[in-house]
Amino acid sequence: MNLPEPKINEKPSLYEALKTRKSVRSFNGKALDVQTLSNVLWAAYGANRADGRRTIPTARNQKDLSVYVADGNGVFLYDGEKNTLDKVLNKNILEMFASQPFMKDVPTVLIYTGSQEEHHYSIMHAGSAYQNVELYAATNGLGCVVRALFDKEAVAKELGLPASEQVIVSQAIGYEK
Ligand SMILES: Cc1cc2nc3c(=O)[nH]c(=O)nc-3n(C[C@H](O)[C@H](O)[C@H](O)COP(=O)(O)O)c2cc1C
Repeated sequence: MNLPEPKINEKPSLYEALKTRKSVRSFNGKALDVQTLSNVLWAAYGANRADGRRTIPTARNQKDLSVYVADGNGVFLYDGEKNTLDKVLNKNILEMFASQPFMKDVPTVLIYTGSQEEHHYSIMHAGSAYQNVELYAATNGLGCVVRALFDKEAVAKELGLPASEQVIVSQAIGYEK
């Protein structure tokens, strides 16, 4: 599925984003529309230059991070260069992230996965990506929280990741109640 071109509101300053960023653990259940999802994904790991380089720095330009989107419709893999979302699982796996009660009202979970081979820095890349999302969310009416509290191996198995790739962390995103 092609995503709409990301459209980021230019008004809020970086200062405002840094000042208001926080973890949110209370959601109203409302789903993200496709434009908002496109914006969030672009902030996380989209291409911001013609050569395909990203909104985050990556060690040796190794694009060894993957961003999956889990929602009520299934699981999708983001391609930041093509600006597309490809369905990889026709199954709602949100329950796998429901280890905290507020998760029942979270419409979307971003799953960061990456190479765990030597000289790869995908864990750091995930940190950069989730912080970009936190800053975008803070100034665009969204709420989010980074989450490590789930069974990463079970999710890796569900996604069919090869042994060289690990589930790093997730990020719940939606609208604050
Ligand atoms: C790697 C990482 C994992 C986290 N895992 C969880 C989690 O599983 N559940 C949760 O409620 N918060 C989680 N958090 C959010 C932290 O608890 C939160 O950032 C911290 O309490 C500081 O609050 P703040 O983000 O509002 O400044 C995680 C944060 C990071 C960076």
